[in-house]
Amino acid sequence: MFERNMTYNAHQIIKNHLQNINKNDLVAVDGTVGNGFDLFFLASLKQVEYIIGFDIQQEAISTSCKRTKDCNKQIELFLDSHHHIDQYIKKVDIGMFNLGYLPTGDKTIVTCAKTSLLAIQKTIELLTDGGILTIMTYSGHEEGYKEYQEIDKYLSHFYDRSINVFNLSLKNTHKECPSLFVIKKSITK
Ligand SMILES: C[S@@+](CC[C@H](N)C(=O)[O-])C[C@H]1O[C@@H](n2cnc3c(N)ncnc32)[C@H](O)[C@@H]1O
Repeated sequence: MFERNMTYNAHQIIKNHLQNINKNDLVAVDGTVGNGFDLFFLASLKQVEYIIGFDIQQEAISTSCKRTKDCNKQIELFLDSHHHIDQYIKKVDIGMFNLGYLPTGDKTIVTCAKTSLLAIQKTIELLTDGGILTIMTYSGHEEGYKEYQEIDKYLSHFYDRSINVFNLSLKNTHKECPSLFVIKKSITK
């Protein structure tokens, strides 16, 4: 079940989801590789064969590359914005977007509502049947609040019946809690 740590929750949700997926050649996307923790998690999933990752900071790409160097998976990282995702791949089985800034880096370099929204729209279009996308938003800073609101509005009015959108956050906290969106694409028979 859920814990206070929202990243843990995102990982658990993906792990649980995969228990119902009977495929071993999954393509995963890390839309914001940052320090490489989500990338490492994706690489640890048995059913994942190939992972593509994006970040606009060289520091993040280098750190993530080092963190996953011993993972026995095909991983490609690009110093590019995630909203160009459709130029790199044609399908996504698992996606993770952990938005905001690099916790150990320059906190003025943050994801922006406009490009994040575009990246999310494109990733949803690339989601395979039974695919899953998690998006962590942080409302505790100005751009993060705007980003959360725009993503929330977009996903709340997403009326494709094959897509289900869920939202998880911790209510009893004095700090602004990250808000986790989970998007699941149905399996069509
Ligand atoms: C919260 S961190 C990601 C944490 C990471 N997933 C991890 O496990 O360590 C957010 C990252 O998004 C990156 N970023 C900002 N704008 C971006 C964009 N347009 N495309 C891709 N990455 C972006 C930042 O450079 C930062 O490294």
